[in-house]
Amino acid sequence: MALRHFLTLRDLSSTELKNLLDRASELKRQQHNNELFQPFKGKVLGMIFEKSSTRTRISFEAGIAQFGGSAIFLSPRDTQLGRGEPIEDSARVISSMLDIVMIRTFGHDVVQRFASYSSVPVINGLTDDHHPCQLLADLQTYQEHRGSIQGKTVAWIGDGNNMCNSYIEAAHMMGFKLKVGAPKGYEPKPEFMAEFAHCVEVFNNAEDAAVNADLIVTDVWASMGQEEEQKLREAAFAAFQVNEKLMELAHPDCLFMHCLPAHRGEEISEHMLDHKSSVVWDEAENRLHAQKALMEFLLNENLKRS
Ligand code: CP
Ligand code: NVA
Repeated sequence: MALRHFLTLRDLSSTELKNLLDRASELKRQQHNNELFQPFKGKVLGMIFEKSSTRTRISFEAGIAQFGGSAIFLSPRDTQLGRGEPIEDSARVISSMLDIVMIRTFGHDVVQRFASYSSVPVINGLTDDHHPCQLLADLQTYQEHRGSIQGKTVAWIGDGNNMCNSYIEAAHMMGFKLKVGAPKGYEPKPEFMAEFAHCVEVFNNAEDAAVNADLIVTDVWASMGQEEEQKLREAAFAAFQVNEKLMELAHPDCLFMHCLPAHRGEEISEHMLDHKSSVVWDEAENRLHAQKALMEFLLNENLKRS
């Protein structure tokens, strides 16, 4: 049996993904009822962060602790990774001592290379190209508020970035339609899109994407690593703000999500996080429950191999 990793959403089958979302809600109920569930006593998660994080770090660290295990935070600043030790060597050494590894980094090839030399499951905690853990939380949140997302219409407003790519994969796997509203030059990459013409449509304005949407999602205009482009992007994205007026074009039951952190006055209006359709706080909390379901799945799959 091959070692399972989670580098993009499509490392799961659609059935596995759906089961994982149900399991996440079950683990959430247990946690809210203060039921102790510690199947992974003694297991250790390594967390490599080459970019900043609040939600990802806390949710993974709390999640493995709630399972009875523990986590080690590894920053390139104080490991040899930051001094140029090759990824392949690091992967062999780190995975020989740990049970599961999460990595947040720049190039997607870094998580791929790490995974190919790792002897334990590797989770992508965000790369420049994908943010699959966030999608687990978003899909769980939609399902908890509105039921199945299959057949629904989701509008992605803003940059064709890592989050957008993971939404594209989710549309394919969960059977919803994704309408991307992005400025010219900031659409998702055509080579990535080619496979998904059946479920994704791209518009160069926010309004056409938002019409009749069941879920509207946005993200920052300049992602981590693009800080110098901030001013340029503010100009390019000015007409792509999610605000109360845009929400009026959507279906009356439409939900609003944002992976956070958010920039009020840029990609969202001042009060958008508190809008009646906003579920951003549930979405953030669900990072914990969804990733616990993910770690449980990967750790159990790996145990079956031994
Ligand atoms: N949404 C998200 O991944 O948040 P952090 O950058 O705080 O981890
Ligand atoms: N697209 C954003 C997501 C942050 C959680 C970034 O990569 O910075």
